[in-house]
Amino acid sequence: MKEIIIDGNSYKFDPGQTVLEVARGNDIDIPTLCYSEHLSITGACRMCLVENKENGSLETACTLPARDGLEVETDNDKIYDARKTVLDLILSDHPMTCMTCEANGDCQLQDLAYQFDIEESSYGSKKEDRFELEERNSFIVYDPDKCILCGKCVRADSELQCSDAIEFSERGFKTKVAAAFDEGLGGEDSSCVFCGLCVENCPTAALSYKPARKKGREYELRKQRTTCGYCGVGCQVELNIKGNEVIKVDSVYDDTAPNPDGEMCVKGRFAYGFIDSPDRLKYPLIKKDGEFVESSWDEALDYIADNLSRIRDEHGGREIGALSSARCTNEENYIMQKFMRAVMKTNSVEHCARL
Ligand code: FES
Repeated sequence: MKEIIIDGNSYKFDPGQTVLEVARGNDIDIPTLCYSEHLSITGACRMCLVENKENGSLETACTLPARDGLEVETDNDKIYDARKTVLDLILSDHPMTCMTCEANGDCQLQDLAYQFDIEESSYGSKKEDRFELEERNSFIVYDPDKCILCGKCVRADSELQCSDAIEFSERGFKTKVAAAFDEGLGGEDSSCVFCGLCVENCPTAALSYKPARKKGREYELRKQRTTCGYCGVGCQVELNIKGNEVIKVDSVYDDTAPNPDGEMCVKGRFAYGFIDSPDRLKYPLIKKDGEFVESSWDEALDYIADNLSRIRDEHGGREIGALSSARCTNEENYIMQKFMRAVMKTNSVEHCARL
């Protein structure tokens, strides 16, 4: 097997691996902003610079293919200075509003500023916003002033969700990520399906979940992995909970899950309001004298069993039908049709699988 030398130590690698992948696989830290193992590589941010010892050049570790005998250094004064300069330039066009920022405590740019000890850019700080906040939809807020143009949102949208709803628009300092005709994600010509993957991949607060804004800091949220209950796919999701309230839903990255790259639909990502809704049914209701009245589960189940039996015995099973749900498991749906056919003597069984 071929070997690469990183910081004086030899490491084996698989064909096609980059220096960054070999380094991370061996617990060697290289900072990144535009890289994601779930997305294609663009080398946009330049934070992952390493020194190629063959010629002393600084190269981006995320784009540099590992090859036999290649020797790189990931940490010396030259690399530190170059990375710090890159970060300094990015921060010169980024509002330093961490105190009120939605991503405070969950921002890769903030983490790197801390790591490289940059309180304020030496090129001068951004004093005024140059763009308008885009929030013409119910789910996602885009703040172009906080965007570092890493392109992760564009790639996630195109490569994972296949929506191609956003792209870079304009040039130079006017560059921003925009939807079709710059009409916003909810625009008439937008192909955005509000899967939220763009927000999930954003390393700053340029993209944020609208329903979660001002509801809690990252460090206040309790995380609970669970299975989305909206259909039978069984996507893995992570609930973010403050007190007893679900604040937002994040992706889970797990190769064994049906959504290994964090993919989700709009329901899984945003339709969690029912959990804490005051209108949510928590007890069975039985209609008595024209009014729905709260009942116990025993009373409700007896009521259903008595009436289903009576209808079957008096009128035959053909007068009964059952509608099951895609939110049940396969096993539950199997039991439903078995019960209807074997006990209720009817083949009228339907299933709302067309969510
Ligand atoms: S992580 Fe390598 S250039 Fe951005």
